[in-house]
Amino acid sequence: MSHRDTPLTLLGDLTPAEFMAEYWQQKPLLIRGAFPDFLPPLDPDELAGLACEEGIEARLVEENGPDGPWQVSHGPFDEATFERLPEENWSLLVQAVDHYVPSVASLMEAFDFLPRWRLDDIMISYAPPGGSVGPHVDQYDVFLLQASGERRWQLGGKAPDDAPIISGIDLRILQTFEIEADSDWVLEPGDMLYLPPGWAHHGVSQSDDCMTISLGFRAPSADEAITSYADYLGEQLPPSRRYHDAGMAPAEDASKIDDAALERMRRLILDTLDDPAQMSQWFGRVMTQPKYVDQLIPHDPPLTDAELVAALQDAPLHHAPGSRFAWRTDNGVTTLFVDGDGYTCTQALAQRVADPSPLNSDVLNLPDANDLLTQLVNAGSLYWQLADDEE
Ligand code: SIN
Ligand code: CO
Repeated sequence: MSHRDTPLTLLGDLTPAEFMAEYWQQKPLLIRGAFPDFLPPLDPDELAGLACEEGIEARLVEENGPDGPWQVSHGPFDEATFERLPEENWSLLVQAVDHYVPSVASLMEAFDFLPRWRLDDIMISYAPPGGSVGPHVDQYDVFLLQASGERRWQLGGKAPDDAPIISGIDLRILQTFEIEADSDWVLEPGDMLYLPPGWAHHGVSQSDDCMTISLGFRAPSADEAITSYADYLGEQLPPSRRYHDAGMAPAEDASKIDDAALERMRRLILDTLDDPAQMSQWFGRVMTQPKYVDQLIPHDPPLTDAELVAALQDAPLHHAPGSRFAWRTDNGVTTLFVDGDGYTCTQALAQRVADPSPLNSDVLNLPDANDLLTQLVNAGSLYWQLADDEE
């Protein structure tokens, strides 16, 4: 049996193959005890501590804020912010906790039936009783894992793109929210709710220790994809590639845009875009773009290949927490994509380096590893952990 056909507690005893065929991107699934005996990877004070750090994306949502309903403020916060908050009806949301807390990042290991490059980030929220962000829709697949305390989730079904939202506030809250039948549950620690994109949902804390972990999976919109691919391709197109109408018939009406002209333009655009080799290179780059580019810290001064080999004998290399790795082989040529760049190498090397386990000196037995690893260390995508960041 391949691992795709093994029933998982994580998926309520469905196999990954069944979950993908019946639920993924299609309909919600409630899984009681997805993570049996789950212990939260951090406590609310530690989450608040992260929200006070510079460079960490954090939001506070107050249903009855001092400046109006559904007030949203952005971090970094300070102790005084938390001291002035009421006992109820607010939420603290911290993005990309997987970048800062290794045990949060390792939650993803349980989801290895999904392409890793589809993950956006792992967000964690804390809320006292009554805290919520209002009924809303996300354009994300999300696994909502209850980490501690209790949250009541209510679902309102698939919402149309133009579902009306409340105006005049900084949150996208639905004006109307009707709870579907059999879609009202209280989740306890270790319970998990999967939601496909576009599904209306409302989660309200029921306890004073409610923490919810959202594992969010991104799918680029057609708008983002077309714009980004056109930009990538555009940089490489010669100026002589343009609309041309050699051999056209004389114009009947000089003001008219005729069908032949439109068809020439359509062909120019479609033939230019329809380039599988370029699309492959663009897709690998865009899907490994880091969420926060500033978090990549290049090695300074850059290492030489010889220094890399020496250092790798002493300690393994780790993947930088916000770095993204993926690979692909086209016509026998493999590209390893890392943090928005492409590196040509053997497939064996690409697979090994893209695997999230730390890299020890054995990797140097693979051809060209030395040069590739040096480039990745210098870019900041691989690094040596200091003894005190190890868990
Ligand atoms: C939350 O954790 O408060 C909200 C998560 C969500 O609804 O996407
Ligand atoms: Co949501």
